[in-house]
Amino acid sequence: MRELTEQCISDLLRRAEEMLEYSYSPYTRFRVGAALLAANGEVYTGCNIENAALAGGSCAERTALCKAVSEGVRSFEAIAVVGGNNGVLSGICAPCGVCRQVLREFCDPETFRVILGEGNGLYQVVLLKDLLPMSFGPDHLRTE
Ligand code: THU
Repeated sequence: MRELTEQCISDLLRRAEEMLEYSYSPYTRFRVGAALLAANGEVYTGCNIENAALAGGSCAERTALCKAVSEGVRSFEAIAVVGGNNGVLSGICAPCGVCRQVLREFCDPETFRVILGEGNGLYQVVLLKDLLPMSFGPDHLRTE
């Protein structure tokens, strides 16, 4: 596993912030960007994409994950997430419950890190296991 250096964290946060421009969020005006670091070193970015039928929308984290998985990439080390009203960051944008569970499908809760950008260069790093304790995952469905 790659070391999550300050440089790596600031690169991921910058990539996530760049995605705020592409956020399609006409209903909430809440823009979110994400940058997902794969084990192969590639970074997959995403933004939230809302829909007039609200349930059809996608969070930024899932957009990034779907881009990676649909290209055959299934091993990940970290994700940076930023978000705020009209794209203005004023604190962390904690991943929603569905995104935590979807990340859990492909990411090791013990080692996968979630970098929560707060704006002004500030951030927090948390492990997926701390965002989703006592989680249900693929191992529960394996019989052998
Ligand atoms: N949203 C995300 O994209 N990621 C999160 O972690 C939290 C919420 C989006 C969904 C919706 O487009 C908007 O933010 C407000 O909920």
